[in-house]
Amino acid sequence: MTRAIITGVAGFIGSHLSEELLRRGHKVIGIDNFDPWYDPDSKHRNLSRSLSNKSFELIESDIRTFDFSSLLQSNDTVFHLAARPGVQDSWGNGFLNNVEINIYGTQRIFEAALSANVKKVAFASSSSIYGSTATGEGRRIQPISPYGVSKAACEQLATVYYERGLSLVPLRYFTVYGPRQRPDMAMNRLFRASLPGSYRFPLRGDGTQSREFTFVEDVVEATIRAGLQLDDSRLEPLDIGGGVSASLNEVINMVQEITDSKTRIDNFPLPPGDPKVTTASSTIVKNLLGWEATTPLMDGLKKQHLSLTQELVSTL
Ligand SMILES: NC(=O)c1ccc[n+]([C@@H]2O[C@H](COP(=O)([O-])OP(=O)(O)OC[C@H]3O[C@@H](n4cnc5c(N)ncnc54)[C@H](O)[C@@H]3O)[C@@H](O)[C@H]2O)c1
Repeated sequence: MTRAIITGVAGFIGSHLSEELLRRGHKVIGIDNFDPWYDPDSKHRNLSRSLSNKSFELIESDIRTFDFSSLLQSNDTVFHLAARPGVQDSWGNGFLNNVEINIYGTQRIFEAALSANVKKVAFASSSSIYGSTATGEGRRIQPISPYGVSKAACEQLATVYYERGLSLVPLRYFTVYGPRQRPDMAMNRLFRASLPGSYRFPLRGDGTQSREFTFVEDVVEATIRAGLQLDDSRLEPLDIGGGVSASLNEVINMVQEITDSKTRIDNFPLPPGDPKVTTASSTIVKNLLGWEATTPLMDGLKKQHLSLTQELVSTL
């Protein structure tokens, strides 16, 4: 039984990770400040299952100020997911949040984890660090958004703290989807623009941009394996991708098929920061963790749709 510390536990990925760790019999201590960047009530709902488990403890606090030395112990595994995500909100003054929450928050956690000599820190990096190079052989760290820069800086911090003896694994998540997906993300918006109501999907560009979409349960499995199984003889960032890429137009068609309705769409030009293609490199994660994503996009989308409609019914 591991004592797992999850930062960002009330968020989309963190809440699923918490439930799965609890289901496997681990103790989970979750930290979240219920950042109002999106509806804090939905974050409280995300945690309802975890909160009903006696092995779960919630600390409502901010990673920028929380005294981690009062919490961390040498047997802990830290899953650090708290961040200000979202590429488009990172332009202009938005970058201050990336600097303070993503970079400074991460540095505080690495520092405290090193002092406490924890077993490992598995932390959420992003495919955004690759910018437009997240495909084929030419992939390299070359972000094209301030958010991507902040995640690349976290990986640089990881190399610094790894050299000082901290066991670390950066997880480069590729566009995650599924139940509880953040409201700013494409699939959540697409379902809302396809279900009854007036919300319209803002289609940026012509929809031919493609992503390697990754179902949240697959992401959780990879994250748990990385945190609990990976040997720490080297620092090896892992691409966590769903296995197949799809264009936004293909996803729109799938959503229309699932909801049996026409998606309401408004067209906008492609904004800066959004790469044309992302594909993950799956070899390293497959070799090191024996992990590959197993959820077909259509199946994952159906699960997301089901959970969204159940949520809508429950709020009627
Ligand atoms: N969802 C994706 O497709 C995706 C892709 C790549 C990387 N990531 C990364 O994965 C992680 C989780 O993403 P998500 O989609 O679940 O996001 P999310 O916004 O749903 O979850 C992040 C959580 O962190 C909390 N948080 C924010 N600032 C905090 C602070 N200062 N102190 C404590 N808690 C704070 C928020 O309240 C939220 O509950 C993030 O680091 C994100 O950058 C996500």
